[in-house]
Amino acid sequence: MNSILAIPGHRPDTPANGANAPAKTSEYPSVRIRRAPVTTPATTPQPTPPKAGSAPLDRAAATQMSDIAPISPPAAKEGAAAADADGGLFIPDTSLGEAVDAEDEAENARAAQGKGGRKTSSFGDLTPRQEVYLGAICRQIAHNRFLPTPNKDEVFVGDGDYLAIGAEFLGHFVRLGGLKPTESVLDIGSGIGRMAVPLTQYLVPGKTRYLGIDPVADGIKWCQNAITPVYKDFRFQTVDLANQLYNPEGKVAGDSWQLPAKDAEFDFATMVSVATHLPPAEVERYCSEIFRALRPGGRLFMTAFIVRSANELAAPKCDPRLSGLVREKDQPCWHLRGENPMAAVGFDNGYLESVLAKAGFALLRKGFGAWHGDKSPHYQDILVAQKPRRSPK
Ligand SMILES: C[S@@+](CC[C@H](N)C(=O)[O-])C[C@H]1O[C@@H](n2cnc3c(N)ncnc32)[C@H](O)[C@@H]1O
Repeated sequence: MNSILAIPGHRPDTPANGANAPAKTSEYPSVRIRRAPVTTPATTPQPTPPKAGSAPLDRAAATQMSDIAPISPPAAKEGAAAADADGGLFIPDTSLGEAVDAEDEAENARAAQGKGGRKTSSFGDLTPRQEVYLGAICRQIAHNRFLPTPNKDEVFVGDGDYLAIGAEFLGHFVRLGGLKPTESVLDIGSGIGRMAVPLTQYLVPGKTRYLGIDPVADGIKWCQNAITPVYKDFRFQTVDLANQLYNPEGKVAGDSWQLPAKDAEFDFATMVSVATHLPPAEVERYCSEIFRALRPGGRLFMTAFIVRSANELAAPKCDPRLSGLVREKDQPCWHLRGENPMAAVGFDNGYLESVLAKAGFALLRKGFGAWHGDKSPHYQDILVAQKPRRSPK
């Protein structure tokens, strides 16, 4: 079996500083799984509304208000050293991930038949072997300067560390959403590929598919030029969805559109930091469309701001950027006061669960994020819901 540190030979260029050194050959590198503390930004950004007659996307406003606090990004020196030590991983060797899953599944089967073996823990809980593999690739992604990354001034989805945030979310998709290396992924609101780039290192080429959809044409174009030519299973599509912050002149209404996907086409759907900019009617439409596009057993991974009470928003520990959320009259949602209410949208606690249930999903996980001021491995709240394997009688 190849090492995950082996480089299959396709790399865009060879740095002069020796990063192309021979790969290590150990099958399971001794990587300690580190969970860096979540950081919340101290400043309170002021959302700027899109100006009439200007470019459709007000990049500064979108960037300020899109931010998802990342896991602490590694210091540049540490990142460079790690990349030098481990070599590039531009085209991944994903066979180890598959093999780890296959071995664990075989072990489970033996245990189920009472023939020994250790039954691995339930859905979403990784075995120690899977944790080692996942920890290693997330660490490499965060440090890997061979991966396609947009220029800083092109990024409109938040100003944290592009690769570190992507790697963090790959970890959440796998740990919390149970994403397998051979599953197909539908990424709604794919932005400028922040979730897609790490997935190129996890999903097995030729055995999976990824489709990213977004209304911001520049972001999709970047992905089509930088990702698809190298990672053929990764496709990106612009849909001219209207959004007051991201695409104010969009022609497609999100509360009545149809996903460009066949029924039961995908295994896993993501909406990362997207429901945080949508009105309730659109979230409802997206959930029912995603339900249609997922195969039975498929999961939806969604992040959101879930508001438990007005008091918690006023508490000093709550992220000050969100303390200005006000409840919309007769609606289950909360908006930022000021000129751009879609810059951050929150929902009443329980509302998203009811939307998911109405669409047909079973809720698998709900985790509150660090924005509330409590310790959490993620900043926004996370919901994972599953399309039942069998339709109810
Ligand atoms: C905060 S960014 C997150 C992007 C990406 N998920 C990530 O985490 O890197 C929000 C994204 O949602 C997209 N978006 C805005 N309105 C949308 C809509 N109605 N449907 C789908 N995506 C939308 C924006 O263009 C933007 O790329």
